[in-house]
Amino acid sequence: MESLLRYLDWTSVGLALLGGLLCLVLLEIFRLNSSRSRNPPGPKPLPFVGNMPQMINDPKGLIRSMPKYGEISSVYLGRDIVLVLNNLPTIKEAFIQNGNVYAGRSSFAILEWVTNGYGILMAEYGNSWRQQRRFALHTLRNFGLGKKTLEERVAEEARFLIKELLKHEGKPFYPIHPIMNAVSNIICSIVFGDRYEYDDKRFAQLLKLINENIQLAGSTVGRIFNMVPFIKHFPGPHQKVWQNANSLKNFIHEAVEEHRKTLDPNNLRDFIDAYIVEMSKQQSNEDSTFHEDNMIMSTSDLFLAGTDTTAATLRWGLIYMMDHPDVQERCHKEIVQVLGFDRSPSMEDRAKLPYTHATIHEIQRCADLVPVVMHQTTQATQLRGYHLPKGTKVMPNITAILADKNHWKHPDTFNPENFLDEKGQLSKSDHFLPFSLGPRVCAGETLAKAELFIFFTSLIQRLKFSWPPGAPRPNMNGIVGLVRSPFPYNTVCHSRDTTH
Ligand code: HEM
Repeated sequence: MESLLRYLDWTSVGLALLGGLLCLVLLEIFRLNSSRSRNPPGPKPLPFVGNMPQMINDPKGLIRSMPKYGEISSVYLGRDIVLVLNNLPTIKEAFIQNGNVYAGRSSFAILEWVTNGYGILMAEYGNSWRQQRRFALHTLRNFGLGKKTLEERVAEEARFLIKELLKHEGKPFYPIHPIMNAVSNIICSIVFGDRYEYDDKRFAQLLKLINENIQLAGSTVGRIFNMVPFIKHFPGPHQKVWQNANSLKNFIHEAVEEHRKTLDPNNLRDFIDAYIVEMSKQQSNEDSTFHEDNMIMSTSDLFLAGTDTTAATLRWGLIYMMDHPDVQERCHKEIVQVLGFDRSPSMEDRAKLPYTHATIHEIQRCADLVPVVMHQTTQATQLRGYHLPKGTKVMPNITAILADKNHWKHPDTFNPENFLDEKGQLSKSDHFLPFSLGPRVCAGETLAKAELFIFFTSLIQRLKFSWPPGAPRPNMNGIVGLVRSPFPYNTVCHSRDTTH
């Protein structure tokens, strides 16, 4: 070996390596140029990393800039091309008219690593996804969704939340924990049959892990992992995602074992009970996808997707209310006129509270909570003159639709007038797409709408929120993870004077 090394001419080795590297770069540039000539236009990608640097530096800016390239544009995330659909007719043509063709879930390595593709959210389009999603929707409905009992449960939780927030009355505090706990208690009562006290340390820790994972998985950590998934064998911040996911799985596993001990098949208490019974019913069915792994992941999906989304929207809501005290006052007056100070809101009250209802829509429009919704084609197809092979990644540009200058009266500012007609009634818009659309539309849309309406209306009925004097306002770009969360901020709340 030593003698071989002695004969090596290091200059030549260096030159050969440099030559090899140059060839690789040239080949990559050639591949990129040929890919760009076949695909829709978009920002210029760099070899190997594509548009990833822009996506890491300013994800919202990059997504917002896509419409300038046309109704369909391309962006390169690493070496993968993603087609971005920038206007509503193109999005509808794909996701509604050809829904099944665009209903594949695009591979997202960091989430595949922790979910193994089980459950609903990250499941490939096919039998397992269909069965798990259908069962979840059916069971959510059986356990109260769309019914009075669920609305009453949310209203009751809102009263607990108000009591909790009032512990900080007049003093600046960061409202993330009580809001997450309150929102999570709704999905927990459906899934686990239980709610958790705001001072339950173990549950508080679990909520922290959920929030951390939603941020980490969609951040630079997740994006780098997606380009080089073999780093899973090495230490690094991605290991935190794995540990957090395992803590959540263990929590669910323990709940399942508890349920097994006390199960009464004639009196199902919640989603887990229903799942255990479904598993045994389907035991002899060869095509059944009801097994332990899918049970843990479906439960985890509902818990995860049902907590941070609604909670982050409510946190954005408080920011907009503190920024626009006139809107907060107008909502409060409308609510008190209809409900007084004490009656809890129900979904029936929406029609009598058009300004408040429009304000909640506007919060969701401006929050633009899930800017990156990634799908892939389940078969080869054509769209607006482009050929899309099977497995092409496609993203509806929800950010662009929610800020479409040709549609909204006030696209770039927070203004509930965006959702009001000339008579002051709610005007619905097909550009309102926070839950996405098509066969993979958010499975919790009905639940989220009920939670947002009842929590928001109850809070504004009883409390007044303002910025602490002199406090810095958070950067409104938010933290773009799997959902776009507000940066931490403090608020001050006061109980409303209920004597007049
Ligand atoms: C304001 C609150 C919420 C927003 C903005 C939201 C938004 C979304 C979006 C944009 C998607 C992706 C859809 C797609 O791939 O095209 C999604 C998927 C999903 N959401 Fe929600 N969501 C919210 C609340 C909830 C709640 C409360 C639940 C719990 C029941 C939930 C459960 C799910 C599930 C299970 C999926 C995966 C659907 C599938 O892949 O088939 N979400 N959500």
